[in-house]
Amino acid sequence: MPGTPIVLRGPAISFTGDPFRDGLERTMVHWPDAAIAIEDGKILRAGPAPDVLATLPQGTAIEDYGPDSLLTAGFVDTHVHFPQTPMIASPGGQLLDWLERYTFPTELKFADLEFARDTARVFLQECLRNGVTTSCVYCTVHPHSVDALFEEAERLGLRIAAGKVLMDRNAPGALCDTAQTGYDQSAALIAKWHGRGRLMYAVTPRFAGSSTPEQLEAAGALWRAHPDCLMQTHISENKREVAWMKELFPERLNYLDIYDHHGLVGPRAVFGHGIWLEESELQRLHDGGSAISHCPTSNLFLGSGAFNLRRALDPRRPVRVGIGTDIGAGTSFSILATMGESYRAALQHQQTLSAEHALYLATRGGARAMYLDDRIGSLTSGLEADIAVLDMKSTPLIAYRMEQARDLGERLFVQMTLGDDRAIQATYVAGRLAYKRRR
Ligand code: GUN
Ligand code: ZN
Repeated sequence: MPGTPIVLRGPAISFTGDPFRDGLERTMVHWPDAAIAIEDGKILRAGPAPDVLATLPQGTAIEDYGPDSLLTAGFVDTHVHFPQTPMIASPGGQLLDWLERYTFPTELKFADLEFARDTARVFLQECLRNGVTTSCVYCTVHPHSVDALFEEAERLGLRIAAGKVLMDRNAPGALCDTAQTGYDQSAALIAKWHGRGRLMYAVTPRFAGSSTPEQLEAAGALWRAHPDCLMQTHISENKREVAWMKELFPERLNYLDIYDHHGLVGPRAVFGHGIWLEESELQRLHDGGSAISHCPTSNLFLGSGAFNLRRALDPRRPVRVGIGTDIGAGTSFSILATMGESYRAALQHQQTLSAEHALYLATRGGARAMYLDDRIGSLTSGLEADIAVLDMKSTPLIAYRMEQARDLGERLFVQMTLGDDRAIQATYVAGRLAYKRRR
């Protein structure tokens, strides 16, 4: 019934700010027994259960998940390819070989609308099974691949950003558009989908290796005409790729300058990977308000390298950073597993990363990377009620290990090291139960 609040109860964790900048003490809230009241898809009130329950009418329905649960804002996946779901876990070697051997042949299959629809269904179910409620998604070059994804996302009520991939060179002919057709098709998709319910369009030149300067120029013009859309692309993922960009664009200062020259740096731009960026490029991302999506399972799987998180977040010129699965180069839909891998990437640079900081990246940090932190990413009144419910004892080993854990940080660290889809017991999308784990 509209207007009647529902309440979720259990331990809860959320962020009110950026713990990398201001420390956990000032930015993290942890309520050992919380209640989250939801009305009309939004969080009405969140806080200690006695306080919240006292404000609600007698007899309000309460879903109590108990002391072994943990309520968090739904996870945000800032970089993922839905058409690569059918090819996750393909032994294609490093990036450029992997693209030719597995990725392009798979994306060719999306000429078939039914195949695209089936894949979109599987993809979004996997997102929900892993507590992911917002994603920034690459589709294929086929405009109907965007329709397939958005139709299903709309049915589920998800807040999703997505776009048709633009590519007009260095790919099979059947996967290429042109600067003009790519512009026209994207513009038509923006008119159809952007701002419809919770859906947002992302202008999506795949990467500078598969777009001519003319196409990058057209992408920049399109984004300028629709600046409230997102823009997403890949950058500095692999050393061979970076060297190749120097050959393709010898007149540009560096990789980011290729995009910048064509008007593709600014607020709401999300750059995937960024492992090999130079200092001047990080400075420019900061100045432009653009974000990096850190995709650690993909980076290990493709042998791309380890992203230097603390360098990107340097307080003198912090870059917005979110976490991405980068399916199908990424090896897991689980954001917990992806957080675990981000800890291992940090260690490669002699850095530590607490579980709480990793959780921030996977929720509010990702929302901030996409300029959505005023709508999602925290358990705060007024925000959209996208919520993941963790089961902190989802396997016998984890249940056993929990008994030894001393504090919240340790308990969360166990989840991100040992946990996976089994640790998600429910996912709420705009206040509606969209997934419940079966035992
Ligand atoms: N660079 C260009 N295209 C892709 C892609 O599909 N996946 C990854 N990981 N990197 C890319
Ligand atoms: Zn990618």
